[in-house]
Amino acid sequence: MKTFYVTTAIDYTNGSPHLGHAYEKVLTDVIARFRRLMGDPVWFLTGTDEHGQKVQQSARRKNVEPQAFVDAVSAEFRTLCAKLEISNDDFIRTTEDRHKRVVQAILQQLHDQGDIYKADYTGFYSTRQEQFLQEKDRNPDGSWPEIYGEVTQITESNYFFRLQRHQAWLAEHIRSHEAFIFPRYRAKQVLEFLKEPLNDLCISRPRERLEWGIPLPFDSGFVTYVWFDALLNYYSAVADKPGVWPADFHVIGKDILVPPHAVYWPIMLKAAGIALPKSILAHGWWSINGAKMAKSTGNFIHAAEYCDTYGVDALRYFLMREMSVGQDSDFSQAQFLTRYTTELANNLGNLVNRTLNMTNRFAAATVPEAGPAEAPERELQTLWAQTRDEVIGLHESFQFHVALERTFAFVTATNAYIDKLAPWKLGKSTEPADQARLRMALATMAEALRLAATLLAPVMPGTTDKIRGVLGYAPAAAWRDELNWGTSLSGRKVAATAILFPRPQG
Ligand code: MSP
Repeated sequence: MKTFYVTTAIDYTNGSPHLGHAYEKVLTDVIARFRRLMGDPVWFLTGTDEHGQKVQQSARRKNVEPQAFVDAVSAEFRTLCAKLEISNDDFIRTTEDRHKRVVQAILQQLHDQGDIYKADYTGFYSTRQEQFLQEKDRNPDGSWPEIYGEVTQITESNYFFRLQRHQAWLAEHIRSHEAFIFPRYRAKQVLEFLKEPLNDLCISRPRERLEWGIPLPFDSGFVTYVWFDALLNYYSAVADKPGVWPADFHVIGKDILVPPHAVYWPIMLKAAGIALPKSILAHGWWSINGAKMAKSTGNFIHAAEYCDTYGVDALRYFLMREMSVGQDSDFSQAQFLTRYTTELANNLGNLVNRTLNMTNRFAAATVPEAGPAEAPERELQTLWAQTRDEVIGLHESFQFHVALERTFAFVTATNAYIDKLAPWKLGKSTEPADQARLRMALATMAEALRLAATLLAPVMPGTTDKIRGVLGYAPAAAWRDELNWGTSLSGRKVAATAILFPRPQG
């Protein structure tokens, strides 16, 4: 069985991690955890992109060696991963030897094959973007857009990678492989880009302009262009692991789909004779309280602070519940608090509290044996079967926001079931029939809670574990089987209380 191989983009180490990075890691983690729970072998890679002009500049500004600089920033990204409970199997850094070796071997191969050639080039160069610009990049008034920073005309000898010979093939590949780009509508953007003849890609930077990069194996006067270096991380990290390559999903933001991931990357692989990834998943961008995220304006969110204040699962939940994969979304503090309070604390948290309280009060903290199901139980069980199947399907199509909405609708229905059965009334009665209904109500709410918690595992793994823990339950079977309505809780001792989502202070 081929390993399901999923990757995130590797983050630039010229600045600290932010919410956009956090989102991408959580999204990819949810995909990886879901596949593992479904029984697939999974390999999940993330890492840092450590070469290039921006890193060199940032290190100089701080008066430290680039290596020391990237060591510190890369460590921050690792810390973030741990904080977010990201289940990556590997973390690659482009400054590692295992990566450099592969990059150099592929450059050498492409050079030997005649896919890379040397030429003089005169053009307008943006230092900030580390790229030569084209006439079409200008503003209508002839000036250069602000994103390019200072633009100067320079002439350079450089190495170029031939792209055009693979252009028609790539367009055809995208047209004939429906799953290659997700969401599908983004494929149009790529095909649009491929309508214009592709310029060969400049894949080198002269040493005197940029030192911080991987030297070209065939000309030590040059280092490798950072994108050519960075894209190869997906392959270099698993080159010696049988059964992992090709990637099943590269998860990236929409800004780096065209041209790097959807054009350069497939052509690089095709030229090198390496199999193509099966799919590229491009997610949308977060704004914060309605505005673009920017450190300079302070419109910035530290994911780690949210984890500290509300718990990691509250943040994971919000990111997955709020954003429809592929679309943009806004991270508003008010919306976060609304979801936290109404969905996590008052809906799921309340179900946990009620289940524990009533089981303690009316059944000596032990989940009773379920009796015969009547209409309200049958209704809830039917809803469960639908919810479970639908949610699994939604995970398969990356519609996590809808999956969570459905799961929480089931939690709402379970709370409504409790209101209807009113165990606190049944508990006052000494009638055997009422006592039997009471036992059934307690068994039903505990089982419904166990199931909902199990279904939340890819998104909220810690919460799943906590809820299982307070129900005195440890899973013994595969996840898919744990999702069947059953009686495995009967006789379990539950905890006295649990506060999963405490009210925020102040
Ligand atoms: N180093 C390159 C990627 C190389 S992959 C071979 C890069 N790094 S980045 O640090 O700028 O971005 C890393 C990822 O974070 C990208 O996928 C990017 O889209 C994502 N995000 C950055 N800001 C974001 C938001 N505001 N919202 C969501 N994701 C965003 O690009």
